Amino acid sequence: MPHPGSDDRFRLTESQARDLAEAFGTPLYVVDEGHFRARIRRYRAAFAAAEPNGEITFASKANSTLAILAIAHHEGCLIDVASEGEFRAALLAGVPPGRCHLHGNNKSAHELRFAFETGIGQIVVDNFAEIETIAELAHHHPCPELVLRLAPGVDPITHAKISTGQADTKFGFNVSDGSAERATRRILDHGLPLAGFHCHVGSQLLDPEAQVTGGQIIAEFAVRMRHETGFAAKVLNVGGGLGIRYTDADQPMAVEDYCAAIVRSVRGALEGTGLTPRLVQEPGRSLVGESGVTLYTVGVIKRVPAKEIGTRTYVSVDGGLSDNPRPALYGSPYPVERVSPANDAPAMTVTVSGKHCETDRLFPDIGLPNDLREGDLLQVLCTGAYNSAMASNYNRYPRPATVLLTGEGPALVQRRESWEELFSREAIPASLARETVTA
Ligand code: LLP
Repeated sequence: MPHPGSDDRFRLTESQARDLAEAFGTPLYVVDEGHFRARIRRYRAAFAAAEPNGEITFASKANSTLAILAIAHHEGCLIDVASEGEFRAALLAGVPPGRCHLHGNNKSAHELRFAFETGIGQIVVDNFAEIETIAELAHHHPCPELVLRLAPGVDPITHAKISTGQADTKFGFNVSDGSAERATRRILDHGLPLAGFHCHVGSQLLDPEAQVTGGQIIAEFAVRMRHETGFAAKVLNVGGGLGIRYTDADQPMAVEDYCAAIVRSVRGALEGTGLTPRLVQEPGRSLVGESGVTLYTVGVIKRVPAKEIGTRTYVSVDGGLSDNPRPALYGSPYPVERVSPANDAPAMTVTVSGKHCETDRLFPDIGLPNDLREGDLLQVLCTGAYNSAMASNYNRYPRPATVLLTGEGPALVQRRESWEELFSREAIPASLARETVTA
C-alpha cells in the first residue's frame, strides 16, 4: 500500500507508449484498468475500516466512458449520474437502474419521468419545483428513494469554479435560510419516500476541512429534523471532492485518514441520537484521475522572444484545448513527461501549447529534456478524470480514442471520432444548396 505522499500516479513505459501511439495514433487517452480497480478497492477498504455501514458511489461525470462505468459497477460502486445522458451511459454499461443516483439542479420533467419509468434507485432532489414534479410522477409510478441536496454553507479551499457547498450556490436547499427544513416538511407532507440528506462542497480538495464541516452540518440537520418532524434519516451522503496529486505541490490527504475524518465528524454529530444512517461518499476524480494519461506527439518547436525571460520555447502537441480544457478553464497544472525516447537529457523550460486557434499555453513553463524534437511522445499524467468527459470539437478536431490497458492487453474502449460522425448532425437547407455564388 502506498504511503501518503508517495507517487503512484499511473504512467506508461516507453515501449507501451510507442506501441500505443503506433496502434491507435495520438492524441490518445489511456486508462489503466488495474490502477483504477486498485483505487476503488483502496477507497472502499478505507471507508469500510472507518464505517461498516458505508457505500461508495462513483461520480460518473469524472469519466463516463462505458468501460469505466462497467469497472466501477463491477467493483461494487453505485453510480452517480448528473443527467439523462450519464444515466443512459450507465444503463448501456450494464449498471442496473436501481444502482444509479440521479443528480441535477435543473432536471427536466422528461429526465425525471425517464428516471421514474426506468426504475432509478435514488433521486437527489435539488429544489421546490422538483418536489412537486416528483409528487405528480409518484401518482403514476413507484417513487425512488429521495435524498435532499443541502447547501451547508461552507466555503472550501479550492478553485472558485469547482466549489459548490457555500450558501450562495445554485445547488440544493440552503440550511441557514430555512429552505432545507421547508423542503423536508414538503416531501413528508406529500408522503414521498424521503431517505435522507446529501451535500457536496467542492472538488480537488486538498484540505478536508470543508467536507468534514459539511458532513457535520448535514448530520446536525438530520438530528434536528428527527426532533422537529419525527423523520429518521436512513442515508447521509457527504459527496465527493478528495483531491489528487496533479503536481508535487498537491499533497492530498491519504484516503484512509480522509475517510476516518469524515466518519468521525458525522458520527460525532449523531452520537446518542439513535440515528444510524448509512453513510455515502461520491468520489469521482480521486478514483479515476490518476489512472489515466494522455499521449501526445510533439510537433513544431519554436523559440520566440519573450519579455523578461528573453526567449520562450513553444512545444506544440497534436491535441490541446479540445481534449483537455482544464488548463484554460481553471488554470490547472499537469505533470508532463517525455515518455519516448526516454533518456536523462538535462531539462529545459518550455511551454507546451496545443493545436487550437487560441493563445493557449496548455502547460506553461515546465521542464522537458533539452534534446526534445518533433515526433517525440509526451505523456500527461492525471487525465483520467474530467478530460474525455469534458472534451469538445473546437476547431473541428475529432475527439480522441480511449484505450483501456487490461490484463489481456490494450483494448480500444472508445474509438477516435470519425469525420462522418463529426458532420453527421448537420444539414444544408435546400435553399442554400441551390444558391450559386454571387460576385
Ligand atoms: N458529487 C457531486 C454532487 C458533484 O457535484 C461532484 C463533482 C462529485 C460528486 C464528484 O466530485 P470529485 O470527487 O470528482 O471531486 N469539471 C471540474 C470538476 C467539477 C466537479 C463537479 N462536481 C474539473 O474539471 O475540475
